[in-house]
Amino acid sequence: MELINALRTGTQDLHRRLEQLPLARALAEGTVARTHYAALLVQLFHLHRGLEAELAAQPALGAVYRPDMARLPALSRDLQQFGRPAVDLPLPAIADLVQNFEDWSVVEPVALLGSLYVVEGSRMGSLILGKSLARAFGVPLQTGVGLDYHVEGSAQRPQLWQQFLQGFEAAVPEPQRESVVTAAIVTFQALYDLYAALPATLSPWPVPSVTPAGMALAPARR
Ligand code: HEM
Repeated sequence: MELINALRTGTQDLHRRLEQLPLARALAEGTVARTHYAALLVQLFHLHRGLEAELAAQPALGAVYRPDMARLPALSRDLQQFGRPAVDLPLPAIADLVQNFEDWSVVEPVALLGSLYVVEGSRMGSLILGKSLARAFGVPLQTGVGLDYHVEGSAQRPQLWQQFLQGFEAAVPEPQRESVVTAAIVTFQALYDLYAALPATLSPWPVPSVTPAGMALAPARR
């Protein structure tokens, strides 16, 4: 799989460096604060809204992108669970990336598939991250509790990923492969910049003490 190998080679260093960032470590170690995770979801909401709108507008990419791959609905549900409407503006890394999606859509639509490779591939990481996030938030590993972005479709993920890769390789002709790899790198770099820009905590968020009646306790005076 020549194209897939080029995508992996082109993005593996960014992937490795991203995994070392404090926010990525907090996600993987199950120590991320709810507020910080929700802030990441808001930015991913902007990314997916931009990408999925452009992909859906390109029938020629329909052999690779199916509407049921859209993750905007899962992000909306998760944000609702966190009580965090997606009202914040996209950070510069994501705003620039969304602008790229719009530009590629006009001049080189196949490049959008490079971005799709990145977000679909990240679902393999989700198989691990879903578990640590469930631990972080004290919820079961299932849909409907704020983890849909990672958990949805996870049971079939390895097979779906293999099918996706085979269809992907077949759908992109040789002359267009370079644009796809470049777009994947641009997308990964934007995600790296996003993770680097967002706050992270490496310790659990302090939970206020609560009386049985549900009243928050005032801090003890000495
Ligand atoms: C936050 C911490 C992350 C962890 C712990 C993680 C972990 C993983 C793991 C275990 C795999 C599967 C590797 C394999 O099957 O050989 C994977 C694949 C992948 N991840 Fe991540 N990941 C993280 C973040 C991300 C992010 C933010 C992105 C980009 C949105 C991303 C994009 C990818 C891609 C594209 C692949 C597929 C690579 C391929 O096999 O072609 N990952 N990740």
